[in-house]
Formats: sequence, structure tokens, C-alpha cells
Amino acid sequence: MTDYERIGTGYAMQRRADPRIAAAINAALGHAPRVLNVGAGTGNYEPVGPSLVALEPSPTMLAQRDPHAAPAVRGIAEALPFPSRSFDAALCVLTVHHWRDRAGGLRELQRVAPRQVVFFFEPARTDEAWMMDYWPEIRDLPSEIDPPGEAFFRRHLAVRDVVIVPVPNDCTDGFGGAYWSRPEAYLDAGVRSGMSSFAQLAPSLVAAGAERLRADLASGRWDARHGRLRTLATHDVGYRIVIAGD
Ligand SMILES: C[S@@+](CC[C@H](N)C(=O)[O-])C[C@H]1O[C@@H](n2cnc3c(N)ncnc32)[C@H](O)[C@@H]1O
Repeated sequence: MTDYERIGTGYAMQRRADPRIAAAINAALGHAPRVLNVGAGTGNYEPVGPSLVALEPSPTMLAQRDPHAAPAVRGIAEALPFPSRSFDAALCVLTVHHWRDRAGGLRELQRVAPRQVVFFFEPARTDEAWMMDYWPEIRDLPSEIDPPGEAFFRRHLAVRDVVIVPVPNDCTDGFGGAYWSRPEAYLDAGVRSGMSSFAQLAPSLVAAGAERLRADLASGRWDARHGRLRTLATHDVGYRIVIAGD
């Protein structure tokens, strides 16, 4: 399990729900009256309206939840402390790749809720992510080795739909791929602090990659290779929503 006690500090500053992505997640939840948000962190994308319970293992993350946010329980996906069918939908946002036993956690989701909604990054799209050219070591992180993608979710959930979620060029949420058209942002240590992959890398590797990116931006090399991205309003960087169950 990724150590959010160590890397979670300052998370709430950079990770703030983007309203367009929130709308896609809300549509996937389909007005479920009782929702469990697993791996809830600071509470991004928790729908307003349904009766919601958050579950999160890290006290550092729990401490950053808004005082008005939904009640949160400390726990892990692999052992949900709730009776079967306590909820109508279970929501997971950018968390499954951090779990120690991903298949076990997905079994637990199906036990407590007939519908499962999972927002994730599709690993088959990693080659599209230019950030990997600058920080290739990200691929070797425990959370990124064999990360769960659509094929994994189809094996472990009764998947009904997989929705492509294009990321807007002005995405307000600072997750790993959010700045696909704003490369300068990755030079900012504050921006990087909201991205778990950077928080897990040795500082010397982060600095070396940032230096390569800085040089490529200064020389025009980045724009020669990827500059067309700056002209797009949205882009499929690899984010998806799986809708499974009822
Ligand atoms: C990238 S954060 C996402 C948080 C939140 N869902 C969001 O999108 O802002 C990943 C979260 O998964 C949590 N996590 C790690 N292992 C977990 C597990 N086994 N069960 C549940 N949550 C876990 C971490 O503590 C962290 O808060």
C-alpha cells in the first residue's frame, strides 16, 4: 500500500475536483441514494446529495478533509467494515492502483454495494504520456507496476460500461496527467506535490527530470514534439470510468 502518511501532506492544496470530471462521475453514480467512497482521501468527487460515507486508511489524508465533508471511517478497501449491501454504489477515485490486494478490494466493493464506479488511469495509454519521457522511473514505482486497467476491471467486476474521460486543458484538479498541455507546471514543486508518483520518487530523480524538461522548453524541443497539445481544448490522456454491477 502506498504510504500516504509520508506523501499525503499538502495533498488538499493541489487535488481539487474538476467540475467537468465530477459531472462524469456523478452521471456514472446514477443518483444512487447511498454511496461509499473508498480510498476517499481528502474527499474529491464526493457527490453532494446522496447519503455518503468515506473510507480512507491514512490519518494524514483524513485530517485534510473539509470539516463539512461527509463522515469518514478509517479502513482499507480489502476489509470494508460494513455489512453486505449497506450502500447502493461504491466509488473509487484514483485509488485502486495503491491497494495491496486489488482483487480482494474489488470483491469487497461488490459485497457492500451492487454498483461500482471506478475512476482510473488506463495503463495501455502510458505511452501517450510525455511526462514519462522525463521521469521514466515512475514506471518502476510499486503503484505503477502492472497497474489495474480496463482488462483487470473486466476480469474482477461485472463491467457494464467504460467511459473515456477527456481531460480539459484547464483542468482544476492537479492529478498526474492534468497538465498535459501545460508542461511548465511540472517544473513547479508545489504542483508536483499533489501527484503521488513524484512524491514516491527520489528527489534527485525528480530534479534531474525537471532539469531535462526545463532545457527542452527553453530550446523549443518540447514544443517541436508536443506543441500541438497546446492547441487542444481537451485530450484523452488515459483517464476512464468503469461502471459495473447493477
Ligand atoms: C491518489 S489518492 C486519491 C484520493 C481521492 N480519491 C482523490 O481522488 O482525491 C489515493 C488514496 O488511496 C488511499 N489508499 C491507499 N491504499 C488503500 C487501500 N488499501 N484501501 C483504501 N484506500 C487506500 C490512499 O491513502 C489515498 O488517500
